[in-house]
Amino acid sequence: MPLPKAELHLHIEGTLEPELAFALAARNGVELPYADTDAIRAAYDFDDLQSFLNLYYELMAVLRTERDFADLADAYLARAAAQGVRHAEVFFDPQAHLARGVSMETVVEGLWRALGESETRHGVSTRLIMCFLRDESAESAMDTLMAAKPYLDRITGVGLDSAEVGHPPVKFREVYETAAALGLRRVAHAGEEGPPEYVTEALDVLGVERVDHGLRCLEDPALVARLVRDRIPLTVCPLSNVRLRAVPDLAAHPLPAMLDAGLLCTVNSDDPAYFGGYVDDNFRALNLPEERQRELARNSFLASFLEDDEEKRARYLAEVDAYAW
Ligand code: ADE
Ligand code: ZN
Repeated sequence: MPLPKAELHLHIEGTLEPELAFALAARNGVELPYADTDAIRAAYDFDDLQSFLNLYYELMAVLRTERDFADLADAYLARAAAQGVRHAEVFFDPQAHLARGVSMETVVEGLWRALGESETRHGVSTRLIMCFLRDESAESAMDTLMAAKPYLDRITGVGLDSAEVGHPPVKFREVYETAAALGLRRVAHAGEEGPPEYVTEALDVLGVERVDHGLRCLEDPALVARLVRDRIPLTVCPLSNVRLRAVPDLAAHPLPAMLDAGLLCTVNSDDPAYFGGYVDDNFRALNLPEERQRELARNSFLASFLEDDEEKRARYLAEVDAYAW
């Protein structure tokens, strides 16, 4: 059994494996511009975030019905369980589906079919986090938040993703204020490709409780000191960082240095179908000493939105502490 852990940075659309993409395309009569699964995998040669996003949005065309979203999420949860995941906080991108004529109800109810049964079926507790596409307008994000109002019993928090540079957090000030007033938790991607100022702005303007990626905080020692002091978690995604060329290779990944600096880092898979591994593969890729891995697993539960179930968090932490390699 792999080390028990929580996954806190996982885009459900980024778990769409080529085999499932073709199965859903056939089921829905959608034509994919790829001959076979190998042709999709051959397109996984990314130069940067945007080149990945182009393929990520293109393949979403196969997701059309509640059943599609349920099948996608159930396939992820089964894989996650096999990688030691005990708790998953799952991102989804409703605007990418609404733009294709797929309703919020289809997306949320479909995902919920799988997430709501996950604890019984897979032993994985779940939360759902709705992300806004930062390269779309703030008005579109606000419309999306309003469209999600009937489903807020299913949604724990909001996030911010897609193309980062040129779309600073401040653009979404009102959206995040409204989300907070609705009782939603707040996270945002920041400092993946964008500058450390975006991390500071996500904290100061959006009031985020966790930063997704956050790598470029390392360019600002005062910001690092603040993140350490305030115990702001960073959801780091090593294989993603290498595939999207945020870092040159795994040996150069700053995660060990970030832990040494006292940052509350977690390890996550981001878009595992596209980046060559699920969360335990990310743990293994770093080749860290066992006690460092245990620290990361503890961090994942400490950083998770389990405030409504502290007994469960304590149980998960006890599993981590008792784990023997
Ligand atoms: N959407 C899916 N994965 C993403 C990432 N790593 N950064 C920004 N947006 C994303
Ligand atoms: Zn991400």
